[in-house]
Amino acid sequence: MADSRENVGWFSLVFGMLWLSSMMIPVSCIGVNWGSQCSHPLSPNIVVRMLRENGFQKVKLFDADYATLRALGKTGIEVMVGIPNDMLLTLANSPKAAEKWVSQNISEHLSSNGVNIRYVAVGNEPFLETYNGSFLRTTFPALQNIQSALMKAGHGNQVKVTVPLNADVYASSTGVPSGGDFRSDIHDYMIQIVKFLSVNGAPFTVNIYPFISLYIDPNFPVEYAFFDGNAQAVSDGGTNYYNMFDANYDTLVWALQKNGFGNLPIIIGEIGWPTDGDIHANPTYAQKFMQGFVSHIANGKGTPMRPGPIDAYLFSLIDEDEKSIQPGNFERHWGIFAFDGSSKYQLSLGMSTSGSVVPARGVIYEERQWCVLKPSVKLDDSRIAPSVSYACARADCTSLGYGTSCSGMDAQGNISYAFNSYYQKNDQDDEACKFSGLGAITKSDPSRGTCKFVIMIEPTLSGSEKTFPIPGLLSCFVSATILFLTIL
Ligand SMILES: *[C@@H]1O[C@H](CO)[C@@H](O)[C@H](O)[C@H]1NC(C)=O
Ligand SMILES: *[C@@H]1O[C@H](CO)[C@@H](O)[C@H](O)[C@H]1NC(C)=O
Ligand SMILES: *[C@@H]1O[C@H](CO)[C@@H](O)[C@H](O)[C@H]1NC(C)=O
Repeated sequence: MADSRENVGWFSLVFGMLWLSSMMIPVSCIGVNWGSQCSHPLSPNIVVRMLRENGFQKVKLFDADYATLRALGKTGIEVMVGIPNDMLLTLANSPKAAEKWVSQNISEHLSSNGVNIRYVAVGNEPFLETYNGSFLRTTFPALQNIQSALMKAGHGNQVKVTVPLNADVYASSTGVPSGGDFRSDIHDYMIQIVKFLSVNGAPFTVNIYPFISLYIDPNFPVEYAFFDGNAQAVSDGGTNYYNMFDANYDTLVWALQKNGFGNLPIIIGEIGWPTDGDIHANPTYAQKFMQGFVSHIANGKGTPMRPGPIDAYLFSLIDEDEKSIQPGNFERHWGIFAFDGSSKYQLSLGMSTSGSVVPARGVIYEERQWCVLKPSVKLDDSRIAPSVSYACARADCTSLGYGTSCSGMDAQGNISYAFNSYYQKNDQDDEACKFSGLGAITKSDPSRGTCKFVIMIEPTLSGSEKTFPIPGLLSCFVSATILFLTIL
């Protein structure tokens, strides 16, 4: 029989671990969005390695790309798989289609590939007002059909459904959180969805963007978007709010509570700040916001209305150069990392030893060469304007314009920027630097100051990638405890 003192030792160790980990879970379990609207995506293995090296233990996807899911297999990373809005109609109309979707995109990855799928995001911000209500009638039936298909396949406990919604599905009639309720034009519809989520033990997912508030309202108090406590407090019946995130989150908590769902779990599906494409989108503000947010939720205190850990996915991991710029030029610059996985600003997630995020490794670039406007061309040449329009319509000129990273360039510089963007997007094809004789290839880097002329990365050859062996990821529970013990 074992010595009783030894037992006491084990008991206190185990209880100590439990106590420590209950304090630490919120710290390290931050998630990130991995979007794929890129002309030159990094290979899934490189991205998965980035996720692991940066300690991301949860990832949110916008579709169910096979190679992406496969690369996430056996990593332990929790995955939210996405269903794009354009599939909602089919899935709403056909339980069979939903079963097929689950079988192909969930069951197979759970069983054969060892992917830790935890959520299915049905649609993406389907109630945005710009969609004119096109997905109003399809979202809920699609959600129901996917839920039934998950149950039927036996995944009901492991995989939960949710709908990532934009924060304008609720609003406050009084301007403070306690006036929160669901938008009147979709109120009944929202209640149906919320009730369904509640019955099925599923979370409410919302995307919150203080940046957008600043973008659309020039009078928005800038400091209220951030977490430094420098904004004038907003008082709600004696509770003070010092940042927009807390106030917005609590507006949702009030809306849920008023309708009888005060305990529904909430996930922040997206939260972030872009680095270019607008006067308020730059690495300084992005750093201030992202670090502020990560630190704000790290203490696990939550908000006045909902104390406790906050479950959130940062937006986004990498820039996507093919995102629609209809909402604004900043859309292609949400990444913590650039398109090639290089870092854009310092960000400490508390998991890497270097104190900041770790860039991608093993990225293969094309040659060090750029396409520019021939120096001999006169700036009043009538061929310039159509050439620039052509390049910008097909490549990416969102870093040109007022308050952006290339706003300091002269005319020669910004014409060259457009030419180079098109040339690189076309994999440095000679034909893509012709521009009716205006373009020339150069080996000397035309980048100046904050204006970076990119070199494209090699297109991914799917299926032929190297895999990087990395030791297995510990669960949030264990690694958080180890982190804490290491700090001690
Ligand atoms: C599985 O997901 C992919 C990517 O989103 C999609 O293209 C495909 O149609 C889905 N499979 C089924 C059977 O719906
Ligand atoms: C929404 O309506 C506007 C104005 O009628 C139209 O221009 C736009 O294309 C519509 N959008 C969608 C997604 O149907
Ligand atoms: C390019 O530079 C010229 C001269 O400085 C400026 O007038 C023009 O607005 C710039 N174009 C863009 C797209 O930034």
